[in-house]
Amino acid sequence: MVDVQGPGAGRMTDAEIRSRADELIAGMTVAEKAGQLTQYFYFGSLQGSDAEPSVGGVTSRAATVEEALGRGEAGSLLFVTDPAQINGLQRRAIEGSRFGIPLLFGYDVIHGLRTILPVPIALAASWDPETIARGQAVAAREARAVGLHWTFAPMVDIARDPRWGRIVEGAGEDPYLGAAVAAAQVRGFQGAGIGAPEHVIAGPKHFAGYGAAVGGRDYDEVNLSDSEFWNVYIPPFAAALEAGAGNVMTAYMDLNGIPASGNRWLFTDVLRGALGFEGFVVSDANAVRNLLTHGFARDLTDAGARGVSAGVDLEMAIGDPAYARLPEAVEQGMVSEETLDASVRRVLEAKLRMGLFEEPYVDEERAREVLADPAHREVARVAAERSAVLLRNEGDLLPLDAAKTGSIAVIGPLADSRRDILGPWCFDFDLGETVTVLQGIRDKAGEVARVEYAPGVRPAQRVFASMFDMFPGNAPEDPEGFDDEAELERAVELARAAGVAVLVLGEWQHMIGEAASRSSLELPGRQLELLRAVAETGTPVVLLVMNGRPLDLRWAAEHVDAILDIWYPGTQGGAAVANLLFGDAAPGGKLPFSWPRTVGQVPIVYSHTRSHEPENQARRYWDEESTPLFPFGHGLGYTRFAYADLSLDRDAIAPDETVTVSVTVTNTGQRAGDEVVQLYIHQRHGSASRPVRELKGFERIHLAPGESRTVQFALGPDALRYWNAAARDWVNDASTFDVWAGGDSTAELATTFEVTAA
Ligand code: BGC
Repeated sequence: MVDVQGPGAGRMTDAEIRSRADELIAGMTVAEKAGQLTQYFYFGSLQGSDAEPSVGGVTSRAATVEEALGRGEAGSLLFVTDPAQINGLQRRAIEGSRFGIPLLFGYDVIHGLRTILPVPIALAASWDPETIARGQAVAAREARAVGLHWTFAPMVDIARDPRWGRIVEGAGEDPYLGAAVAAAQVRGFQGAGIGAPEHVIAGPKHFAGYGAAVGGRDYDEVNLSDSEFWNVYIPPFAAALEAGAGNVMTAYMDLNGIPASGNRWLFTDVLRGALGFEGFVVSDANAVRNLLTHGFARDLTDAGARGVSAGVDLEMAIGDPAYARLPEAVEQGMVSEETLDASVRRVLEAKLRMGLFEEPYVDEERAREVLADPAHREVARVAAERSAVLLRNEGDLLPLDAAKTGSIAVIGPLADSRRDILGPWCFDFDLGETVTVLQGIRDKAGEVARVEYAPGVRPAQRVFASMFDMFPGNAPEDPEGFDDEAELERAVELARAAGVAVLVLGEWQHMIGEAASRSSLELPGRQLELLRAVAETGTPVVLLVMNGRPLDLRWAAEHVDAILDIWYPGTQGGAAVANLLFGDAAPGGKLPFSWPRTVGQVPIVYSHTRSHEPENQARRYWDEESTPLFPFGHGLGYTRFAYADLSLDRDAIAPDETVTVSVTVTNTGQRAGDEVVQLYIHQRHGSASRPVRELKGFERIHLAPGESRTVQFALGPDALRYWNAAARDWVNDASTFDVWAGGDSTAELATTFEVTAA
């Protein structure tokens, strides 16, 4: 299934690559092989080269890594992004290796390197594979320019519990949308194939099920049913591999009682067997060492032996790697040298395909030019515009007319923060290039309207110790001399005197992401109090939500006229938001998750099954509804769309046939706009109970006022099959299928078709 042989740099044929790798392996010692299977963090430049940061209790020493390079015993490094430093380390590796084997440089290029795109959950909210691929192609271009070869992205973990901070890195709750977003990201990162110029190897992660952490607590165990594993959590990985991803990363947690990073069934039977993956697998950071922490491996040598035996080719390690013990493990008969060889071959093949033996060094001058390319900022701005989701717009408050609005009160510390707007998982941004929401509004409307600003509540403060605090400038400092009462009052007065109040509320940059789970979904700090006080002035309020997970907006959804979810929109976020606010762009994004009313409802998904007393399914709690605040797929625009003529090219198909669904969408409003046309199905009966609705198609279209378009979707055997936990196999049932088309997961326009028995 996986075409890692796909069009690469065209330097060597597959057969040449294979025989070159074998030739190298034949000459290597076991220690050199173990070295090729080790990837070190290199924090040499972090806070001066003497820094020795500790991560998870293990210290990373630059000197240890440099020594390993000198012995030819390191295969890959991560966390170096300076081209000169990359060249220096590469030279050391090549000179240290008897065979001149170059290093692979990997890094977390999650949503941009220097040009920061909207966070991944935002990109998913665009429901636009083209925008996503273009964005990640820019990220890849910048990464490759500085000398990186490989990104630890996309994160394709399904996330159904927003307490889990890493929901921001993925595409939300749905396997179909998740698969489309995963494939688009791989296309963007990798281009035509491994080794394509200006692209990097993509590494979907974390295999598999990581997003289902119990209680939403990051790293905690995951217990997935057979049906959820195959029907929900695997499809985005399958799509990423189908798109050619060259690497896969393991996951930190126990999956059904077995550490995912030491689970042979996962990598050998599922990943390489069922999914046909031929690339290389990397462990998550220190995840092989963790086999000890889990109480799985006896000691570090056992951990190394079990990691590589499970099919984890490369160990990502901070300090003291388990794979450095592999020579000892081989000697003691715990693992065979052939097992090592198979992993070394995969790593060497990736290096050969990337053309690193011919061109190991990077052009430092060119790196500067590529990073400065203004076209990248343009891609980021458009992506931010296309990601925004208009949750509510009473009385068509948006778009604003700057000339008529009078003065604009911009409120909330997130409105004027160059860091928070970037969201988590970025390190190499240029704050000088970042446009805040306040700046964007001033640039756009400052000449015709008075724009005034008040934070209202205290700016970024150190709420908890984030794992990212070790990076310079990341740890927020408590603002000095901030008078909470007076500032709140000042913001309210500003709003009272203004024609419109634009509030930017949400979570600060590192309140979300890895190791940033929460037990509540409330707006942190006094933000809700601020919102209520501003709304009580009677001035019309636009709430811009800066977030990577759904927050508790029950009050706002009743009392605030307009709510626009801008996510963490990135480097050009402020410019994009201003375009949206004043109608130079129109929101067309849709929610990639069901937005809960309260944390007590989670996990809540639209694709649940039906059971006893379904008429009460919306009232499963006596103290709260069990419907979401906003449904999956929801998102308004500045115009209206009508759906009509839902039709099928036939009423019945055999199991191996395809039915074509058509629906006509008309822009019935006064403005041009985008709509994401969505197709849902339900199987009425069969050999398992199937979800009440499942997304099976979507297309984002642009329509001028009055314009109509007929959109078609194909439903064939692949779309209708599912993993049946009783049969323990994929099945296609003969059944009646409902079909809905519309603008969100509550679409009402419906029809049916039959799949007849074979
Ligand atoms: C994360 C990975 C990431 C790696 C390297 C780990 O803590 O789980 O997603 O790629 O660090 O930064």
